[in-house]
Amino acid sequence: MKNGMLALSMTAVMNMATAADVPDNFLWGAASAAYQVEGATNKDGKGRSVWDYYLDEKHLAGPGISGSVAINFYDRDQYLKDIQLFKELGLNSYRFSIAWTRIIPDGQGPVNLRAVAHYRQFITDLKAAGIKPLVTLYHWDMPESLSAAGGWENRESVEWFQRYAEVIFANFSDQVDQFVLINEPTVEVATKIMAEKRLKGEELTLPPIVPAGPYLETSLKSYNHILLASAAAAESFKAKGYKGRLGIALPFFPVLTTENASDKDKADARLVDGILNRWFLDAMYKGSYPADVLKLAADRHLNIDVQPGDAERIHDAGLGFLGINYYAPFFIRHQKNASEVYSPEIIFPKNEKLAFNGAVRPDQFSALLERVRDEYGNPPVIITENGAGFEGEDQLTNGKVNDVNRCLYLVDHIHAMRESIARGANVQGYHVWSSHDNLEWLSGYKSRFGMIYVDYDTQKRTPKLSAEIYGKIIRGENISDVDCKSD
Ligand code: FCB
Repeated sequence: MKNGMLALSMTAVMNMATAADVPDNFLWGAASAAYQVEGATNKDGKGRSVWDYYLDEKHLAGPGISGSVAINFYDRDQYLKDIQLFKELGLNSYRFSIAWTRIIPDGQGPVNLRAVAHYRQFITDLKAAGIKPLVTLYHWDMPESLSAAGGWENRESVEWFQRYAEVIFANFSDQVDQFVLINEPTVEVATKIMAEKRLKGEELTLPPIVPAGPYLETSLKSYNHILLASAAAAESFKAKGYKGRLGIALPFFPVLTTENASDKDKADARLVDGILNRWFLDAMYKGSYPADVLKLAADRHLNIDVQPGDAERIHDAGLGFLGINYYAPFFIRHQKNASEVYSPEIIFPKNEKLAFNGAVRPDQFSALLERVRDEYGNPPVIITENGAGFEGEDQLTNGKVNDVNRCLYLVDHIHAMRESIARGANVQGYHVWSSHDNLEWLSGYKSRFGMIYVDYDTQKRTPKLSAEIYGKIIRGENISDVDCKSD
């Protein structure tokens, strides 16, 4: 188990996160998402998404926390300066998302050409800087009217999304040849459950990211519809003969138990793995949903709307790459005194170093990449998100931000990825979450994840230590943990 200084000294000798042994044309990038960075929520005819409702109208992230400015990334004067910073960093790839409510303001009606023009210009500007766009179609910003109609719980969402995807392909496939269809189904559904709870004035002690109890039905149903929506979009892409490849960005959580785990702990952990990880991978690469999760749903008489042929359709859509978002594993145990089978709870063992999104465990990143290699036929993988934030770390002092823990996190995870590549994992790209500090959903602006510090009052950018070190890794320098020292 790693923590603090021990991690630094033990790994310093071994971890040389050079760019030497990644495949040719490897994508070295960073990522962001429309609502978290763009601001300009009323510009160019944008419609309202569920996040405009949650934050601007209902203030679910606290008073005054709004996406109306964010980091001002919709503004061309601003984003051109940001692209210049990306170029100086050495990025050759940038993952960003298009807001559905800009392209089709009410979700299903006419196409808004001003928004199309904006994103076409942005892509042109990125490419002029030598940066390849990796375009996400949907990063959680469901049009408000569609959310009110049930969102992903409604099977019609498959057609809503397919039509939106067709509009994106028709307008951008001459400029872009790789699209991420949908971001993080499991975390989106959990965040929505949290938001709805807050709307009712209730607070959940833990985010329902491990769906259990009343949330299991909603979650499995939504996951199936999201996968079907991705399959439908891929069918349209193929039918029109567009050139390029599609994927979805899935957040995988290696599921661990602690020492002395009981059989009940282990059984619950196995089911959590089934729900969060195998549910998606089995459908995509085996054409079936995991039998243990289907049995759990059947035993509980849940209506999860899995119909005959659904999993086969997802498999047959043949997505071209797997987008992996990795932050941390989960430690699971069976709730004390719970009589029901599958009563999991997340625990945070004391001996783990903790980032905002959980334990810092690069070894589990390797384990995940090698599991995909061994159990799912080694598909092409793009790391669509990896990164971290640490309580109180990002302080701007004398014009510098020495984000030592983020720097160590990146060096160690890139090292773990390189080791897995050396052992045959088919990883073709890596994107840090995030390029900039930005609006972290229900946490507002206080959880910073960026390599570029943003002063939210002035919009001034300051690349942090992690940016400098990531740039060196991209350039092929021999970087180890000791390079993350602050001066
Ligand atoms: C992921 C989300 C991303 C951001 C990071 C910290 O779950 O995809 O938008 O919130 O976490």
